[in-house]
Amino acid sequence: MTPITNIDDLKHLYRRRVPKMFYDYAESGSYTEQTFRENTSDFDEIKFRQKIAVDMSNRSTTSKMLSHDVSMPVALAPVGLTGMQHADGEIKAARAARDFGVPYTLSTMSINSIEQVADATNAPFWFQVYTLNDDDFMRRLMARAKDAKCSAIVITLDLQVLGQRHKDIKNGLSTPPKPTLKTLLDLSTKWRWGLGMLGAKSRTFGNIAGHVQGVSDPTNLAVWTNEKFDQALDWDRVKELRKMWDGQVILKGIMDVEDAKMAVNAGADAIIVSNHGGRQLDGAISAIRALEPIVDAVGDKVDVYMDSGIRSGQDVLKALALGAKGTFIGRSYIYGLGAMGQAGVTKALEVIHKELDISMALCGKRSVTEISRDMLMMPSDFATRWS
Ligand code: FNR
Repeated sequence: MTPITNIDDLKHLYRRRVPKMFYDYAESGSYTEQTFRENTSDFDEIKFRQKIAVDMSNRSTTSKMLSHDVSMPVALAPVGLTGMQHADGEIKAARAARDFGVPYTLSTMSINSIEQVADATNAPFWFQVYTLNDDDFMRRLMARAKDAKCSAIVITLDLQVLGQRHKDIKNGLSTPPKPTLKTLLDLSTKWRWGLGMLGAKSRTFGNIAGHVQGVSDPTNLAVWTNEKFDQALDWDRVKELRKMWDGQVILKGIMDVEDAKMAVNAGADAIIVSNHGGRQLDGAISAIRALEPIVDAVGDKVDVYMDSGIRSGQDVLKALALGAKGTFIGRSYIYGLGAMGQAGVTKALEVIHKELDISMALCGKRSVTEISRDMLMMPSDFATRWS
């Protein structure tokens, strides 16, 4: 096999090995996918300032995210249905993150349950909650996260309604997949995936099945979202949700300076500048473009993290130089997971780590604390072109 040297190599392998329905689920943005595309292409507008003859021995990428020491400031983002990309996908991704020394975030909409991930990893992880209209369920969910020793929660604020991804509707996305002729034909060519799934600990929403009433089709993500997600969410409700958890809270899905200030006011310990990987509001600016003004506004009060569009260690370095204290990756590790299971997630982390380390060195930086805005060259109106 030709060696895997970058995230794109993992993506090609992933496409061959995972059923089309789940490949499409991950590799899509909403509507025209403009925001999904620009999340990655906007990184190209940012250039590095090369430095030479700087002592680059004894380099380190270690840092801190919240109270955690990390081997590099790159966490795994919450990704729903990860256990459909590979059998026991959440457990495998969490183990790879633990062994690499980076945080793993489990989604509410995971296949493996909170308890299954806790049992299999014996290491603290972060838990992501959606804002549901069912207080009883929210309290029980947070109590389960506490029992599982989750060290922080991530509250995702950009999904009161689900952005439409055309392919999910056309593919009839459900978990587990319904046995239509089209699905069965596709599955027949993905035998490796199917064999793994036969032995999986869970094949439907592990945090939800058996824990919630009143959803007419629990296998269908869109039905679930319509019936349970709180369309009436406002900042008072965010404050209430924040109070339900007595530990650290990260608020995710911030793209606007005023919203960032509201998030600080609501008691966030950190925020994630994110547009959900281009899966919610198509036509929004890319997250990397939104980052710097938000850092300028609230970066001295909370840790500002960033996700959406990161496909390399160079992208991580650009986000850090623009002021992010840490980054999250979604698809970059999902490609690895679908391609090669736990080893693929480790590979994705290794690729990103190496690119980050080498690029830091060539910019004359030896540690994460030395990374600064002046190592970048970019159009002066990068963040303000659309006012
Ligand atoms: C997501 N994302 C997401 N976010 C969240 O808070 N809860 C979730 O359940 C999910 N589910 C989900 C599924 C899939 C397939 C993707 C690709 C993304 C968003 C995710 O946490 C993160 O914001 C993006 O993935 C970041 O963009 P990149 O790195 O994928 O470009």
